[in-house]
Amino acid sequence: MIREITKNLYYVGVNDNTKQLFENLWPLPYGVSYNAYLIKDKSNVLIDTVEYPFNQEFISQISEVIGDEKIDYVVVNHMEPDHSSSLVQLIDKYPEIKIVGNKKTMDMLNGFYGITSNVYEVKDGDKIEIGERTLSFHLTPMVHWPETMMTYVDGEGVLFSGDAFGAFGSLQNGIMDSDADIKLVTDEMYRYYSNIVGKYGGPVEKAIEKLSSLPINYICSTHGPVWHDKIGYVVEHYLKMARYESEEGVVIAYGSMYGHTADVAKNIYEALIEDGVKNVVLHDLSDVDASFVLRDVFKYNTLILGSPTYNSELFPKVADLTVKLEGRMIKNKTFACFGSYSWAGQAVKRLTAFAERMQWDIIEPKIEIKQAGLDVDVKALSKELAENIINSINNL
Ligand code: FEO
Repeated sequence: MIREITKNLYYVGVNDNTKQLFENLWPLPYGVSYNAYLIKDKSNVLIDTVEYPFNQEFISQISEVIGDEKIDYVVVNHMEPDHSSSLVQLIDKYPEIKIVGNKKTMDMLNGFYGITSNVYEVKDGDKIEIGERTLSFHLTPMVHWPETMMTYVDGEGVLFSGDAFGAFGSLQNGIMDSDADIKLVTDEMYRYYSNIVGKYGGPVEKAIEKLSSLPINYICSTHGPVWHDKIGYVVEHYLKMARYESEEGVVIAYGSMYGHTADVAKNIYEALIEDGVKNVVLHDLSDVDASFVLRDVFKYNTLILGSPTYNSELFPKVADLTVKLEGRMIKNKTFACFGSYSWAGQAVKRLTAFAERMQWDIIEPKIEIKQAGLDVDVKALSKELAENIINSINNL
């Protein structure tokens, strides 16, 4: 896709509607875009590339914009292969091109592609004049890899932000935020952030603060729409995610082998709805991919996990989710748990230990049933739990 964003500054990225799993892990029901940008000036500059299978489409789009002119620089803001794996083909087509990156980029250029020549190393704050424009480079390590940096265009206030402000979803309706279905983009932005960048809240917040003095009219990320009309909106949401701040709401996620743990989950769900809690979502972890649960955990402030005891451990789907939550070092959650067992209960104990490690606030009661739990008043306990959760939300 080609689109002129500002005069002589073009989008030249691609939509990928064929890949099933991003990083071979995360489902892509709405596809994904690999965004790259071309600035036509006295020196022509490309910002990032696209994933390897799309290199021909990418290079032919570049030719459509600049014809027989050469490209002087390609700026590599991020080395993850979804943005760098067309570099070799790009160099084949434009052998004189200079590759701009920082010290850490250089090491990765060599390690991934054996590229050591025609490189141009920049440091934090360095500038390159390319004609009417000046580009400046801002190192933003761990957003999302150690070499990540952002590139800023003076005057027009364009920020090429790498993965920051990115979202899953291909750009079917057009590349600008004004073209997008904002509810869907927001959902896919939360899923992208929580799945891919979620561990790096500190570096994301630091990067946003570092760039806050720059006037920004366009945010050009490596995935998802170009932000222009809704810059305040996307920055606000990214800051919230980076700080692990969330809105009022409850995520109930559970595993269940024979339906008994699921019954407890449904009782808790109904009690919360009856008591008027906003935004209650129920996820059966055998039915839904964990990426959607992570999205909702980043959105809402309360998490209730339920699990049967399985081989004296957590049910594997629940255990897997706890590993993903712990890996993202998620802070500021209110937590409750429930579980079941057939002869020796371990699930509730393990879920409690998990929440203690995460330093989350644990709300009582913990509902644990043996076998079908016929002797337990699950409805009454669910009501009590719902009321305690409401009190905790009101006290936040
Ligand atoms: Fe889309 Fe971290 O790369």
